[in-house]
Parts: sequence; C-alpha cells; structure tokens
Amino acid sequence: MLLDTFGRQAVDLRVSLTDRCNLRCTYCMPEEGLQWLAKPELLTDEEIVRLVALAVRDLGVREVRFTGGEPLLRPGLVGIVAACAELAPRPELSLTTNGVGLARTATALKAAGLDRVNVSLDTLDPDTFHALTRRHRHQDVLDGLAAAEAAGLTPVKINTVLMRGTNDHEAADLLGWCLEHGYELRFIEQMPLDAQHGWDRSQMVTAEEILERLHTRFSLTPEPSGARGAAPAERWLVEGGPASVGVIASVTRPFCRACDRTRLTADGQIRNCLFATGETDLRTALRSGAADAELAELWRQAMWGKKAGAGIDDADFLQPERPMSAIGG
Ligand code: 5AD
Ligand code: SF4
Repeated sequence: MLLDTFGRQAVDLRVSLTDRCNLRCTYCMPEEGLQWLAKPELLTDEEIVRLVALAVRDLGVREVRFTGGEPLLRPGLVGIVAACAELAPRPELSLTTNGVGLARTATALKAAGLDRVNVSLDTLDPDTFHALTRRHRHQDVLDGLAAAEAAGLTPVKINTVLMRGTNDHEAADLLGWCLEHGYELRFIEQMPLDAQHGWDRSQMVTAEEILERLHTRFSLTPEPSGARGAAPAERWLVEGGPASVGVIASVTRPFCRACDRTRLTADGQIRNCLFATGETDLRTALRSGAADAELAELWRQAMWGKKAGAGIDDADFLQPERPMSAIGG
C-alpha cells in the first residue's frame, strides 16, 4: 500500500498523459506555450499501463484519473483506457479534460471503459472564453459536454476557476446553467501553479467570495458532514438538493489531512503532492529493467516522504518547478 508518515493512504492515482495543451489558459500557460517534453522522455502507452497495473494490483490504488496537459491529445488514450479497464480489481476510471475534442471521442472512451469526465469550463460567454484561453473553442467545449452526457460519462462534472475582473461575475450564472443541464459544478481557487509565476494571493477569488456570489441567487446548505471523505471539494446542496455545488478551497481551506492521491507525470516521475518540490524517477528504473517489486518499492518510498501539507499560505512557500500542465490536475 502507499502510506505516509501521517497515516494517509493513497488510493487515487492521477496519470498525466501529456504536458501539451491546445488551449492557453492565462492562469496556466503563457501565450506561446511551453517547452514540451520530447517524445523519448514520455512513457509509452505500454509503460503507462504497466505502472497503472502495478499500482492497482500491488499498491492499493482503486481510482485512476487521466489528466494532462490535455489528455485527449494523447493518440493512444482510448487504448490506455481499455487496458486499464481490464485490470483486476477494476479501478474507477475518469478523465480531466478541457472538453475540446470530447464530442469526437466521448462514445469511444465510454466503450473503452471510461466511467466519468471532469470538464474545465470557466465561462458561458465565447468572448470571455477567448480572453481566458486565448482560443476560439467555446462551442467545442459545450458540444463536448453534451456528448459526454449523451455517452453516459456521468455525472459530468465541471471545474471552474474564477479570475478577478474576467469571469468572477459569472459564478451564479454558471451554477444556474449547470443545474439546467444536470452538470455538477465545482469551483477551484486559483493555485500558484502557472508556468509564468503570475499568481498573486491578493488577486485570488477566495472560496468565501465565491459562496457570497452564489448566495445572491441560490439558497445553499452545507452537505451533511462526513460526505466529503477524501474529496477536496466542500459541497453545498442547492435549494435543499438533490443538486449540489462544490468549492475546492485549495488555498484558503486546504484539505491535505485527508489527501489520498499519488501522481505519475507523463515522463514517469512520481509526485506525492501537487506542490512537492521533489520527484521519484520511475522511468529510469523501468527502462533499466527493474522488476515490478522494485518499482513498487520506489513508489512506496516516494509516498512515505509526503509532507503534511502544501502550505500555500505559508510565508516560506515555494512554487514547484513544474507547472500544473506538466503535473496533471
Ligand atoms: N489553479 C487552479 N486550478 C487550475 N487549473 C489549471 N491551473 C490551475 C490553477 N493554477 C484547473 C483547470 C482544470 C483543472 C485540472 O485544474 O482549469 O479544470
Ligand atoms: Fe490547457 Fe488545462 Fe492549462 Fe487550460 S488549464 S491551458 S486547458 S492544461
């Protein structure tokens, strides 16, 4: 099992399939993109499946989420999902995507065994979408969402990051729209994980502010306690339920104490936290012929060194070298 010195067990594996993306969200990447990983550095489809299989079979992982960058850009995605769906015990399989291209792939992903999707959508307005992502792909995302719902990749969840002066006035509109469409909305506080290091604590839209904005239009009641489990989102029932809205207060109310995650980057590094400053290199071991037992031991050691918390609000906080797009959300 993947344990740490604070008594946590990682059962949720996030696998980044590529560091590339077809959008350029201002809170994530600069306009010109980043220096992408070279192909030989990336794990192959077979290497990824081998590591996921090891995690599921020998390390207690029960849930696997594919992320990026943008994971739909990975040519072998459907095959990777299909191979992971064959594993015993079969893990829960989900995908975090920006939704561009999902309209084309939702049915095949469902058939391959994908259970659910999380789609990033920050605005209902095409011009604001362009201001935030620097691309004209708003309609593609809406089509992707509809296709995911139709394919049964449900419940379809939406992740929203609010940026002051750009889309923060849309909080209540977004919730209304998601309720209408049956999508589950979750707001995420902006974290210091952008490649250009432009994050500014004083500009961040806080969970408290988000809730205030939602309260102007909706009655929200905290979901009965205990329902949160290891989920980072605190949830509120909207108008008494059953619909709900989540807020992930990664900065102002971090939930590190119950974190159950372990991460594998596209170039084969284990990270025990989004904000870890160190990594454990599984790729080199894998490519020099390590047996499963050795890889499992490296992975266990990587998790054993996990810190108590990310400490974003601490004075001595250091942003990790890798940006979010190269770690996986
Ligand atoms: N802070 C918070 N959320 C972010 N995301 C990307 N970068 C950041 C950041 N700096 C979100 C994306 C996506 C999810 C994986 O993480 O919008 O929904
Ligand atoms: Fe791409 Fe996600 Fe980064 Fe936006 S936040 S540029 S969709 S990786």
